Amino acid sequence: MALVTFTSPEFRDKTVYATAGSHTQTVLKLARENKIQINFECEDGECGTCAVKVSSLDSKGRMGGPLTEKEKTVLRETGKISKEEMEQMIVDDLPSPWRLACQMIVRDEDIRVEY
Ligand code: FES
Repeated sequence: MALVTFTSPEFRDKTVYATAGSHTQTVLKLARENKIQINFECEDGECGTCAVKVSSLDSKGRMGGPLTEKEKTVLRETGKISKEEMEQMIVDDLPSPWRLACQMIVRDEDIRVEY
């Protein structure tokens, strides 16, 4: 089980359980199941509408699976992450603070998702 805390300036924080290890449950799917209103359009990693800021709330510090190719492209194009920051994250094997909620698979870790 993982705990995912959704936080937004417009709504109260909401912490929900995620079934870790399903390898299919995205942050967006989890949000929708729990009536958390993250904006989205394509649900296919193309538009960037669902970009969220993710941080670790436990000591594992991994924050989901690695960025997908679609996430890398969209997050760069929308200016969330610069080319240099992206390269540095890859070199240092660091997790990305920005993710696409429709692409990020929930893992067995406690995270905060700002939307
Ligand atoms: S909804 Fe379009 S990129 Fe996630």
